Amino acid sequence: MLRTHNCGELRLSDAGKEVVLCGWVQRSRELGGMTFVELRDRYGITQLAFNVQTNAELCKQARELGREFVVSAEGVVAERSSKNTKIPTGDIELIVNKLDILNPSEIPPFTIEDDTDGGDELRMKYRYLDIRRKPVRKNLELRHKMAIETRKYLNDQDFIEVETPVLIKSTPEGARDFLVPSRINPGQFYALPQSPQTFKQLLMVGGIDRYFQIVKCFRDEDLRADRQPEFTQIDCEMSFVTRDDILNTFEGLAKHLFKTVKGVENISFDRITYADAMKYYGSDKPDLRFDMKFVELNDLVKSKGFQVFDDAEIVLGICANGCGEYTRKQLDELTEWVKRPQIGAKGLVYVKCNSDGSYKSSVDKFYSQESLAEWAKALNAKPGDILLVLAGDKNQTLKGMGELRLEMGSQLNLRDVNKFACAWVVDFPLLEYDKDAKRYFAMHHPFTSPVAEDIDKLESDPANVRANAYDMVINGVEIGGGSIRIFNSVLQNKMFKVLGFTEEEARSQFGFLLDAFKYGAPPHGGIAFGFDRFCSLFGGSESIRDYIAFPKNNAGRDVMIDSPSKVDIQQLKDLHLKLDL
Ligand code: AMO
Repeated sequence: MLRTHNCGELRLSDAGKEVVLCGWVQRSRELGGMTFVELRDRYGITQLAFNVQTNAELCKQARELGREFVVSAEGVVAERSSKNTKIPTGDIELIVNKLDILNPSEIPPFTIEDDTDGGDELRMKYRYLDIRRKPVRKNLELRHKMAIETRKYLNDQDFIEVETPVLIKSTPEGARDFLVPSRINPGQFYALPQSPQTFKQLLMVGGIDRYFQIVKCFRDEDLRADRQPEFTQIDCEMSFVTRDDILNTFEGLAKHLFKTVKGVENISFDRITYADAMKYYGSDKPDLRFDMKFVELNDLVKSKGFQVFDDAEIVLGICANGCGEYTRKQLDELTEWVKRPQIGAKGLVYVKCNSDGSYKSSVDKFYSQESLAEWAKALNAKPGDILLVLAGDKNQTLKGMGELRLEMGSQLNLRDVNKFACAWVVDFPLLEYDKDAKRYFAMHHPFTSPVAEDIDKLESDPANVRANAYDMVINGVEIGGGSIRIFNSVLQNKMFKVLGFTEEEARSQFGFLLDAFKYGAPPHGGIAFGFDRFCSLFGGSESIRDYIAFPKNNAGRDVMIDSPSKVDIQQLKDLHLKLDL
C-alpha cells in the first residue's frame, strides 16, 4: 500500500506514530510561519502541517500545492494546538517530513465541498469530481449497503441470483424499447429488456422456485425526477405461492432494509385497494404520512343555484387543519396553482371555519351558514381549519385533488422525510381502455393473472376485472410492483385475445412463453422494486439521479461521455442501417 492509514482514521491516541497518508488537496492556508494543507480521501480529512522554521524547502513545496493535487505525505501524528471539533480527526495533525506530488491537477470547474458552487449540468459533466464530494459519495455508499442487505435477506430466504440476458426480443407492450441492430442478422434487432419479466417466469418453469436479480432495465420513456432510461430493479419471482406469501416475503425485505440501513424499526404496512386509493386520495400511490382524505360533497352542494357544482360530475372536499387564517394572497396563489394546466381545475372553492363557529366561503352567495356547517361536518372540520373544494369531471377532479392534497401536505410540513408510511395497494384493474387505440391494454403487463372471482368476466366485462396485482407504496412513491401470474396457456391465450392480439401475433411475440407453459409451469408470482427509488427514499431525496453513479440528464444524455452520439457511416453500413438525417 502507498499509505499506512486513511485520512479519516487518525485520533489523539495515534500521536507520535509515523504514518503515510495519500489523498487530494482540499485547501491550504498559511498562518505565521506555518502552512496547513487539508488532505481528503473517501474516509475523511486530515490536516497536514508544515513549519517554515524546521523545513523551509518542504514548506515551499506545500505552498505550491494546488486544489485537487494528489499527494502522499509522510510524517508524525501530533496533537493540534487549535482543535477542530467539526471533524473526527480534528484533534490531530500530521507534521510532515516528506511530501510527494503523485499527480498535479487542473483547477476543478467547481468547488469540491459539501455545498458546491457547481450547477447540475456542470457537475454531471465532471461527475467523477462530483463523486469526490461527500454528499454524492454518501449516496453511493447507501446504495451499496442497500444492495448488500438485499442480497443477504434474499439469500437467507433461499432465493438465488440468476443473470438474464440483456440482448432480448422487442415487444410492443409497455414502454418503448431501446433497440440494438444485429450485424450478423441483417434487418433484425435485439431489444434491451424493460424488465426480465418473461425470463424470470421461464426460470420458474425451470424449477428455480425463488429467483432474484439486481438488474439493469431500459425504457425509452420521458424522463422525470423518479425515472431514468436505464434504471435498476430488485427483480424477484417465487413459485407455489399466494399473493399473501409474496406480500409477506417482501414486506420482510423492506423491514430488513429499514432496520439494517436506516436503523428504523416498527415499520408496518397498510393494505388499501386501488378503488379506495383513488376514491380517498386520487392516486394509486397515496402518500399516507398524513390523512386529509377526500369527501364527496355531491349530495350536500347540488341544487343550490351554484351552476359550477350543479354541472359537475363530482364535487370533492378536503380539510386542511389550521389553515383557517390563510390570507387572500395565499388563497389566490392556491387558486392559480390548481388552475395550472398540470392540475387543470377551473377554480378553487374555500370555506374558512372561523374560531367563533361561523364560516366564510368564496361561495357565500349560494350557500347559507347552515349549508357550510354541513360541509364542515362531513369533512370533520374544526374551527381554525379550511375546506378546499374542487369540482368537475370525475377523473380529472380526483387527480387534481390528489395534487392539491399533496401540496397542502407539503405546506403543512406533513411530508417529513424521516417518517415512513408504507402500504400495499392491491386489486388494480387488470385492463385499461385506450380511446385512441380503441383497445384494452394490460395495466401491469399481459402475464398478470385476474383475481379468481373475476376470471369469467374477462370477455364479457373486461373493464371490471381486477388483477391479482400489487404495488408497494412508501410515502407516495411507487417503490415496487408485481403480480400473481397466469401460468396456464389457455388463460394466457384468452388474455392475449382480450388485448387484441391475433393468435399469430401472440405466437410470434410470446410463443416461447406459451410453449414453456405447456411443460408443467408451476403457479408463480413476483415483484420488482425500483432500486434507485428505494435508495432515494432512504436518502430523503426526490431525485433518483443522486443515487446513480453516472446518470443521464433530463434529455436522456450522458453529458460526461457525450452520449448518445453520431457513429461512423461504416458502422451503420455494417449494421445494414441507412440513416437519412
Ligand atoms: P414495473 O414496470 O411496475 O414492473 O416496474 C417495477 C418498479 O421499477 C421502478 N421503475 C423505474 N424506476 C426508475 N426509472 C424508471 N424509468 C422506472 N420504471 C419503473 C418502479 C416500479 O415500481 N416486471 C414487472 C414487475 C413484476 O411484475 O414482477 C415490472 O417491471 O419503482
